[in-house]
Amino acid sequence: MRVLNFGSLNIDYVYPVDHIILPGETEPAGEVTENCGGKGLNQSIALAKAGVEVCHAGLVGEEGDVLIDKCREHGVKTDLIRKIPGRSGHTIIQVDRDGQNSILLFGGANRKITKEYVDHVLSSFEKDDLLILQNEINLMDYIVDEAYGKGMKVIMNPSPFDDSLKQVDMSKVTLFFLNEIEGSQMTGEKEPDLILKTLHRLYPGAKVVLTLGGDGAVYSDGEVRYRQGIFKVKAVDTTAAGDTFTGYFVASMVEGMSIPKGLELAARASSITVTRPGATDSIPFRREVEGTV
Ligand code: RIB
Repeated sequence: MRVLNFGSLNIDYVYPVDHIILPGETEPAGEVTENCGGKGLNQSIALAKAGVEVCHAGLVGEEGDVLIDKCREHGVKTDLIRKIPGRSGHTIIQVDRDGQNSILLFGGANRKITKEYVDHVLSSFEKDDLLILQNEINLMDYIVDEAYGKGMKVIMNPSPFDDSLKQVDMSKVTLFFLNEIEGSQMTGEKEPDLILKTLHRLYPGAKVVLTLGGDGAVYSDGEVRYRQGIFKVKAVDTTAAGDTFTGYFVASMVEGMSIPKGLELAARASSITVTRPGATDSIPFRREVEGTV
């Protein structure tokens, strides 16, 4: 079973601020830092740092070598990544004094995916291979249909959630990773229990990992549920915490770990991510997560 992550690669411009800026407000920022990020890239790096081989597919712009280099640095396979004219995806991220963030996302190259490119990428994969998706690239509906048609297992992180996802046939998804806000956007429900019940009614057969911020995470397959609390730490920057959780949990699946052990591994990993600034560079290595360094 091979793992393909078809997702965004962003350059994150991060500004420390006292508080997240309000409409009409002007606020001075601290020193800007430039990091490699993107939900797709972060999840690939999390998988690689967890020790799992992952192929990343996606597009970068003219200044995107730094993003490809970041993949190579961590052993993420880059053969399928293409460089195209124009700008890479980028973000402007404000991080406040409590480590909370707000993200302005410019899609750039991430949103220039063509059907020809999708067909090329998927031609290297087969039945039962895993496909991981987030919602920072275009043609999500086509990618899901084609991958499902080949018998690949689709893992969906519908983040950031927007109307484009209404075109996607979510009944083809094997496993959802989502937070309470995305769960609410997908189901119209607010309570975690109702979000899970509604997702299982809409997509019977799909498994769900619902992250609940300070209340941890729940895994549900429609019959059995497992809960995982958080490991309390002082948060510096929450960017990539969810991506770390997703990457590490998928790594645990690939390794055949039990669900409770996989949830614990993912929670430990993301608790380390929030203690460090940045995106890909804040994601811990497996040895750190297992406390062997
Ligand atoms: O999930 C965190 C990521 O979201 C950041 O790295 C940023 O690029 C945005 O896509």
